[in-house]
Amino acid sequence: MKTRILIVDDELDALELMQELFESKGYIPVTATNGLEALNIIRNQEPDLVLTDIRMPEMDGMQLLEVLNKEYPNIPVIMVTAHGTIETAVEAMKLGAKDYILKPLRLDEILAKIERITQLNSLIKENEYLLSKLQQTYDFTNMIGKTDKVQALFRLVKEVAATNTTVLIRGESGTGKELIANAIHYNSQRVKRPFVKINCGVLAESLLESELFGHVRGAFTGAIKDKIGRFEMANGGTLFLDEIGDISLNMQLKLLRVLQEGEFERVGGTETIKVDVRIIAATNKDLEKAMEEGTFRQDLYYRLNVIPIEVPPLRERVEDIKYLVYHFIEKFNKVYGKNIRDIEPQALSVLEKYNFPGNIRELENLIERIVVLDKTGMIRLTDLPGYIREYKKPGQPDNDSADLTQGLNKLVEDYERNLIIKALDQNNYNKFQTAKMLNMNRSTFMSKLKKYNIS
Ligand SMILES: Nc1ncnc2c1ncn2[C@@H]1O[C@H](COP(=O)(O)OP(=O)(O)OP(=O)(O)O)[C@@H](O)[C@H]1O
Ligand SMILES: [Mg+2]
Repeated sequence: MKTRILIVDDELDALELMQELFESKGYIPVTATNGLEALNIIRNQEPDLVLTDIRMPEMDGMQLLEVLNKEYPNIPVIMVTAHGTIETAVEAMKLGAKDYILKPLRLDEILAKIERITQLNSLIKENEYLLSKLQQTYDFTNMIGKTDKVQALFRLVKEVAATNTTVLIRGESGTGKELIANAIHYNSQRVKRPFVKINCGVLAESLLESELFGHVRGAFTGAIKDKIGRFEMANGGTLFLDEIGDISLNMQLKLLRVLQEGEFERVGGTETIKVDVRIIAATNKDLEKAMEEGTFRQDLYYRLNVIPIEVPPLRERVEDIKYLVYHFIEKFNKVYGKNIRDIEPQALSVLEKYNFPGNIRELENLIERIVVLDKTGMIRLTDLPGYIREYKKPGQPDNDSADLTQGLNKLVEDYERNLIIKALDQNNYNKFQTAKMLNMNRSTFMSKLKKYNIS
């Protein structure tokens, strides 16, 4: 899109000069000879930038600037003024003009200033666009869950988002902890400031320390220049400390200090750095047990656990499975240009009986795979992998559907078959390992496979 520049000047010579200049450089110039005329044009079609003289009859440049500031704060304004009135230009900058140009006009100067401001403006627009996309992504409409438990959870998340307190999110792997951390940030007052994430579980202690706090040049071999850490990057915003249950006691102590005092030093540095950072931490570890065992500091626990948020595993919110399935169908239809319309009731009910050790992530990956491979526009029972179709609650024969008139032998056989399938699944379908795990010799195991028609 070409940039539209509105030039406002009562001196026709100047007006013409700039018009020609902008045209030759690929901009679209529009002209007005006073503020009122300019406003009329702007109301019809907003320009990307306004270049206005200060002294003009009718409405002068300062008055125009004032109106634009109120009504069109996103249109950048550059003031043009004759020698001797630089004070007015400075005044205009204070009132919100982006820049000023002195007469007599120098074409290269005008072009350079216009270029800088249009670039800046398109960056601002792009930034706003990206932010609005993120806000949409982490909008509560994309967080699925109708069960009372989850509805209560979402209400809590909304309330917490409006505050500035530290939050500790707990829950099994794949339950949505990170999604909730994002939702808190993007619905908080810190939304325009950075959301910085660090996975504390995957970094060795020394690396984690320099990632969190930064380091100064020469702090250790390989520290060839100063580096800022995540705490500084997140200043004014939110820092998400993922897998907080995995950090060493030593690092716990260092974290505690930042949380208490809001200050720290870079690794190898002496200068104390102060930051304003909101902390959201997450873990799937049993921190209470870790405290008992002495591997997690109590004081840090209380610092983090100001607002605890428990995310329930999927198997405790079975009613949500249906809604999640439809949500993911829609999502991956879009991503892969597919058109799955529905899921067979039998397939859905099998999903509702499965225990989902990987929680929502597992369900999401499953639906993604099915959508990618889909040929029929429908999710069918046969699209589901065997270990889900055959899944029975551990240690429990399928009593609900067991028809007792089949006789004990048949029922025991069914039970045995299911156990073997489960064991195979746990051993990645390696027969040798499975037989070993079940404490069966190889030939007995193979004959059972044959008997039960398991391939
Ligand atoms: N309520 C929900 N509605 C829709 N999608 C969800 C919901 N909760 C989680 N998801 C999706 O499930 C996936 C896993 O979520 P997330 O990464 O937040 O889990 P996690 O608890 O951080 O897992 P881990 O402990 O393994 O890091 C993500 O793709 C996320 O978008
Ligand atoms: Mg996570």
